Amino acid sequence: MSEHAPITVPIVRERKSGPKLTMVTAYDHPSASIASAAGIDIILVGDSVANAVHGFEKTLSATVDLMVIHAAAVTRAKPHSLVVVDMPWMSYHVSDEEAVRNAGRLVREGGASAVKLEGGSNRTETIKRILAAEIPVMGHLGLTPQSVNAMGGYKVQGKAIEDAQEMIADAKALEAAGVFSIVLEGVPDVLAEAITEAVSVPTIGIGAGDATDGQVLVFHDVLGLGGGRYPKFVRSYADLRGQAIEALQRYAADVQSGAFPAEAETYHVRDEVARMLADGGALSDAKESSSSSQSP
Ligand code: KIV
Repeated sequence: MSEHAPITVPIVRERKSGPKLTMVTAYDHPSASIASAAGIDIILVGDSVANAVHGFEKTLSATVDLMVIHAAAVTRAKPHSLVVVDMPWMSYHVSDEEAVRNAGRLVREGGASAVKLEGGSNRTETIKRILAAEIPVMGHLGLTPQSVNAMGGYKVQGKAIEDAQEMIADAKALEAAGVFSIVLEGVPDVLAEAITEAVSVPTIGIGAGDATDGQVLVFHDVLGLGGGRYPKFVRSYADLRGQAIEALQRYAADVQSGAFPAEAETYHVRDEVARMLADGGALSDAKESSSSSQSP
């Protein structure tokens, strides 16, 4: 499927010293295959699938069953990229036992090589239990969308000095718990830089400036597949939505005008069969043979 060597958790850890890590979300077989062919290091089957694919307003709508379906579609593409799957909201909040069982489902049924979950010091015991089941964990700090209601909206986090200090402490707690990398989302650049310097595991930023050890963006945003306005931190490298609309309009026009399908896009039979079909001969033969097969 891919000429690139497979990326593993130890390889990601080693990339603290560079080169920078590349990560995109992917939610299905074709997008995983595209990300892998592009040489992307990490595919995140993000709970953003709820918004990007299913049209929900919040990631809170993602469930373990949904994540398993999307993870399995991604891993069936056999990408060279490391596949990390998000633990959705309420899959690790009720008890550590449930968290381990749900992480196990993402690995066994979804084919994940690692899971990601949101939170800092409040999640370290859960993280240790998942790690004890031999499942690598990626952390996620800053603007954590599963806390949207508690945060009162999607707001950049860590702007006040106390909040920034707390986030640095959270990053160190995640490192001590054993995560192999940490996503920093919606964080001022200087704070992301301070966290990146404070921990020995790679940081991967989204809306966190350029000092992190890697960057992550949502697949649909990078490729310009979304219909609405993108957040400030997004750079779209293509306008696939525009190209797709234009292609479908040309297809519809060709159908209307009769230009599609053309000769080369059409199946044919031998001339003799074609002539019989044209004179209705095949139809009368078929009727005769069906009536004779019914006679005693
Ligand atoms: O679900 C997601 O897309 C994410 C990224 C924003 C890191 O968690």
